[in-house]
Amino acid sequence: MKKDLLTLRDITFDDLQSIFELASKLKRERGKAAYTPLAGKSIGLIFAKSSTRTRVSFEVGVGELGGRPLYLDQSKMQVGRGETIADTAQVLSRYLHGIVIRTFSHAGVEELAQMASIPVINALTDDFHPCQILADLLTIKEYSGRVDKSIRMAFYGDGRSNIANSLVLAAKLTGMELVISSPEKPNLELAGGAANVIWQSDPVKAAEGVDYFYTDVWVSMGFEEERARRMKLFAPYQVNERLFEVAKPEAKFLHCLPAHRGEEVSAGVLDSARSIVFDEAENRLHVQKAVMSMLMGD
Ligand code: CP
Ligand code: NVA
Repeated sequence: MKKDLLTLRDITFDDLQSIFELASKLKRERGKAAYTPLAGKSIGLIFAKSSTRTRVSFEVGVGELGGRPLYLDQSKMQVGRGETIADTAQVLSRYLHGIVIRTFSHAGVEELAQMASIPVINALTDDFHPCQILADLLTIKEYSGRVDKSIRMAFYGDGRSNIANSLVLAAKLTGMELVISSPEKPNLELAGGAANVIWQSDPVKAAEGVDYFYTDVWVSMGFEEERARRMKLFAPYQVNERLFEVAKPEAKFLHCLPAHRGEEVSAGVLDSARSIVFDEAENRLHVQKAVMSMLMGD
């Protein structure tokens, strides 16, 4: 694997299979066999945005791998008072063995990774959320037995969110069919012309033959001032019972969480047996442990 995981472009198809294999093994053996590739290592977790799943799964994951997690609130660091990213990267590289970062600017994370001599994992930027999508792909593999061109996913709502962008890269990586149903054109250029990623602005048409529905919040962190516009724009793209009527009979529901019942998803869908969002959330822990072992472990 490459030194850093900033987007799914950093992962090959073979890397993905290795992540699935190790994550599944760590999941099966959790709490049983000791596996401590981060023993003696300290991993910095820099957060500039709120988090429940990402913070907890990384802190727990580092600990379970034998390492020491350091939670760093970016607003309390000197980088928040004008110290450069380059200087921060070089200083942290002298103390830590890896950095996990959640922040606004994706370009800032690229600069951090370039200037750091230690691995950097993107835990969400305005543009990408690769760790989430790795967990989603593992969840699909668990339910369907595979993640390939036989899987059809439809993503609804904010087709340019960090989740939607990352799903486009995931479709390119795995060959799964991805339909993005959104009012505005998604960033299809990320697919590099791959024919398995399409935009369908009609939400009912997009649901035809779907195996997995996926949605994300309509107001991502950092976009709060656009709330009124977004609520109106995305309203026709709620994932609800009506869409399941045109999908495959066994279709499932995915959501990165946190969810807003009555906005991007109906309570009926989110709280139904079709919803596998908590398996998906759990898999964050297992895939991130696999990725940290591969990038930062001995
Ligand atoms: N899905 C996700 O990243 O959740 P948090 O914002 O709670 O970390
Ligand atoms: N698109 C959402 C994802 C949250 C996990 C956000 O950036 O807020």
